[in-house]
Amino acid sequence: MLRLSLVAVIAPSSLMIACAEPAAGDCDAAVELVADCYGGVAAEAFAESCNADAAQAALADSCQTGDGGKADAFSTPILSPLSKQFKYGSIGADQLGLPKSILRAIPIVCADTLPAGADPLERPFEAFGLIYEKGHDLPIGFSTREMPFLGIELTGTTCSQCHTATVRETPTSDRVTFFGAPNGRFDVGAYSDFLLGCIADSDRFNASTLDDAFDQLDVGGFERLLAFKSGFIQEFTANLREQGGSVVTDGPWGPGRDDAIGLSAATLLGEEFLPKVPAPIDYPSVWNQAVRVGHALHWDGAAATALERNVLVAVGAGTPKDAVPLESIAAIQGFLDKLPPPAYPFAIDATLTARGEELYQVECAECHDVGGKLLWEVIPIEEVGTDPNRLDAVSPGGIDATNRLEGAGWEFSGFKKTDGYLASLLDGIWLRAPYLHNGSVPTLRDLLEPPANRPAVFFRGNDTYDAQRVGFVSDVEREDGRPFSRFDIARAGNGNGGHEYGTTLSSEDKDALVEYLKTL
Ligand code: HEC
Ligand code: HEC
Repeated sequence: MLRLSLVAVIAPSSLMIACAEPAAGDCDAAVELVADCYGGVAAEAFAESCNADAAQAALADSCQTGDGGKADAFSTPILSPLSKQFKYGSIGADQLGLPKSILRAIPIVCADTLPAGADPLERPFEAFGLIYEKGHDLPIGFSTREMPFLGIELTGTTCSQCHTATVRETPTSDRVTFFGAPNGRFDVGAYSDFLLGCIADSDRFNASTLDDAFDQLDVGGFERLLAFKSGFIQEFTANLREQGGSVVTDGPWGPGRDDAIGLSAATLLGEEFLPKVPAPIDYPSVWNQAVRVGHALHWDGAAATALERNVLVAVGAGTPKDAVPLESIAAIQGFLDKLPPPAYPFAIDATLTARGEELYQVECAECHDVGGKLLWEVIPIEEVGTDPNRLDAVSPGGIDATNRLEGAGWEFSGFKKTDGYLASLLDGIWLRAPYLHNGSVPTLRDLLEPPANRPAVFFRGNDTYDAQRVGFVSDVEREDGRPFSRFDIARAGNGNGGHEYGTTLSSEDKDALVEYLKTL
């Protein structure tokens, strides 16, 4: 059902009153032309909705320029400079994504279900932690693509949505954006619930409300006809809502994390592979990727190569398996390969760091430093002792099913079942809070306490920096009338135990070690 075509959703011809009888012959010729000009995915989608008017429009169109006079409108441009490719470059999900005009209309037609204080017309998705740049009407992390023939822009998710963060020195300071950092404010669960919940609600999302919203947004031309396709869009997304709803949870994930294993099982593998336990996990940092080539990736070290994990994300985000834009994804990866971890932007005490470095060499380097003999090794769960759900969510059968996925130009073989969590570099660790794979420990200083002394309840989603304990401010419950997300270690998958390294040092030594960690 994911492949249900959006061309079929939006082809305007079927709306026209008194249209001519469909002529099968014309459609055959038109589909052939579409295939020739725009490739198989477009042709298949076009065929589903072809009638006499659509065929006529298609046959009157000529191929765009390209090799041999043909071009694939579904080919994916690589944006320049590469930072733009990272922010807005496509991973293919925009081939069958929501039309941009609909995405922008949703906050208007469902304004009353937006988080408190959000403005439906101005940067509405900021309320879910998405980051807008000046002059852009969609946040960082959305790619767009113009549909052949119709000129309607479709949208899709891209990597920077979860992997770009902001930091404020104080609640009133300007926000500074960091590429490659985990977006600790982005609540993908709340965002999807809002979006898909709105579409499913015919009282709010219907031809007449959309028409009004399009007036406010100044949407004209063919796109206006989308209003009358609201029922079709509902059908198109119902399946996604059901899939998301099938992932086992123990309450909302909150910002900065999602249940990536559950979501992959729900969207790609099938119900029999759905994990039985909730396993919400933090978005990791993704800078400095060149150093990681040849080593395991993911919190449990289950992924062997960046290519495989990136394609898995792309098809999970709705990219058709036979139309994964490998070059565009490789360009994003190229950017991340060379992206350095950002330097700590606040004051550092050089005397303390010298002492801290000595402690780090003794207590931590074996697992976390270049040259350490356990760096890039999976540390067995019995040894590291952190929450087991992320590990238990992955079944050998699920791994086999993932390794059987394939599409045009790619196939998987490197995913494997592991028995613990990966010891990885601590590069840019100051910006990776909250800590551990499930984000259960708010600051570095807390991680150095024995588990019983780590906070059992704290608040996530604040980007104000806590330079004292090193992490984000986690004891403030709300800001501007909007609550931060309450994290409770008692919930399934939220355990904050384990990783008892450096926990018996003196308080002064812990402070020195934390000071040194700022420099990594
Ligand atoms: C919806 C949020 C989301 C999007 C979009 C997303 N990621 Fe991630 N990414 C995650 C999460 C969550 C993990 C942790 C997965 C795990 O370990 O189970 C992750 C893991 C990673 C890792 C592994 C890091 C490590 O050190 O183990 C890399 C690299 C990465 N993502 C890059 C990308 C790229 C490139 C894209 C686009 C093709 C992308 N991500 C899109 C959420 C996202
Ligand atoms: C025996 C190996 C080992 C030693 C020694 C070790 N760690 Fe770790 N560390 C790990 C593993 C494995 C993880 C991932 C655990 C998880 O996420 O559940 C981890 C995770 C972390 C994280 C969280 C990373 C993130 O992105 O959230 C930090 C911070 C960290 N370690 C700091 C330290 C410090 C500081 C020391 C020394 C006092 C230390 N570690 C000693 C194995 C080790």
